[in-house]
Amino acid sequence: MYIFKAGVVGAGTMGAEIAQVISYSGLPVVLKDIDQAILDKGMQKIHGIYQRRVDRGKMDLHTMEEKLALIELTLSYDGFKDLDVIIEAVPENIDLKVRVFQELDGICPEGAIFASNTSALSISEMGAATQRPEKMIGIHFFFPAHVMKLVEVIPGLDTAQDTVDSVVSFAESLRKIPVVVKECPGFLVNRLLAPFLNEAVRCVQEGAATPEEIDKQVAGFGMPMGPLVLSDALGLDVAWSVAQTLYTEYGERMRPPRLFQLLVEAGRLGEKAGAGFYEYGADGKESLPVLIEKARRETTVTGSEFSVERCLLPLINEAALCLEENIASPADIDMAMMAGTGMRRGDRPIGPLGLADEMGLDAVLGQLEEFQRKYGERFRPARYLRLKVKAKHLGKKVGKGFLEYAA
Ligand SMILES: NC(=O)c1ccc[n+]([C@@H]2O[C@H](COP(=O)([O-])OP(=O)(O)OC[C@H]3O[C@@H](n4cnc5c(N)ncnc54)[C@H](O)[C@@H]3O)[C@@H](O)[C@H]2O)c1
Repeated sequence: MYIFKAGVVGAGTMGAEIAQVISYSGLPVVLKDIDQAILDKGMQKIHGIYQRRVDRGKMDLHTMEEKLALIELTLSYDGFKDLDVIIEAVPENIDLKVRVFQELDGICPEGAIFASNTSALSISEMGAATQRPEKMIGIHFFFPAHVMKLVEVIPGLDTAQDTVDSVVSFAESLRKIPVVVKECPGFLVNRLLAPFLNEAVRCVQEGAATPEEIDKQVAGFGMPMGPLVLSDALGLDVAWSVAQTLYTEYGERMRPPRLFQLLVEAGRLGEKAGAGFYEYGADGKESLPVLIEKARRETTVTGSEFSVERCLLPLINEAALCLEENIASPADIDMAMMAGTGMRRGDRPIGPLGLADEMGLDAVLGQLEEFQRKYGERFRPARYLRLKVKAKHLGKKVGKGFLEYAA
């Protein structure tokens, strides 16, 4: 199905940027919110993105005006009667999302595709709440949407193949890299990031290292940004709501550390709140050392050791669990992490499976077992990793690990 016109519901952080991306590709887009001030702010942001292109000599003023004219702002569903795809980007709350799709169901053309930009909620559940589960799909953009190339495309249990194909082509027409991911909580990138972020926070909580030390070492090894500065940039409230969903769904190995919750409760939500793991100028919030002390009194674990592997191996192990569950192919898992998080080793882009192959799967397994003995079940190695080692698929050194290497 060809997409001629799109709609975006919710003009906040993500919705406004998604509308910009769509207009940039030359398609008309209707952007709806419930608050005129947010619509105006969204349009200002879109204007700013285009203006920067003009300032850098990458676009002329006339083209900018043409692109901006493709965006229609609205507080009502009046402009939604002739849309081919609607992307929902309202807050991460299943009841709200279901209500929005039920409203859209009565207004949009029968053939229109319903897409959700949810970070971790169930696409199948949203589909089941509508009269068109075969047309419901996840299309998960990453922040900032006008920069990040990755788009996760997530079919629900009842999504038709035609819907998947249409959304993949649509994402390509937006100049994105779509990766189709089987539905699971957190999909691929957030699911893999969660145990990594949790472990970094736990290292801070247990006094293993400071946020600065952790960020410096992790960024030096394999990420463009350390986990704690990344959490501050994403917003700890957003990260917390994803962490909660993943803990409910996967259990103990995704349990968020107490310090994470204490930071959220203290309003240290990251950069936007002026304070998070780092200080950004807000006064009057409880300090990080006070919150660490509080968390330690409640949890009793102290004196553990920090290492980059302690944070990265849970991410690699989660990637192995995704392979076990056929969430995506090995190549797609690595591509998604490279395009969605900028994962790399030195200057080379590399995904978690390629990285494990370079480390040697026997070494990865041995280290996970050691962490499991020292720190507990959250480090239990994936069965598929054990199987690979038994089969002597030990990684790059033998030409075959999670990926295959030409001789
Ligand atoms: N912020 C991120 O980094 C990020 C990244 C990827 C995905 N997401 C997901 O995208 C979605 C939106 O997140 P966000 O950060 O843009 O949230 P946000 O709070 O910045 O924006 C949500 C917007 O939806 C509007 N809204 C609420 N109810 C509405 C309704 N009934 N109709 C129309 N508009 C309505 C709000 O006024 C607000 O402007 C969430 O599901 C989130 O998990 C966020």
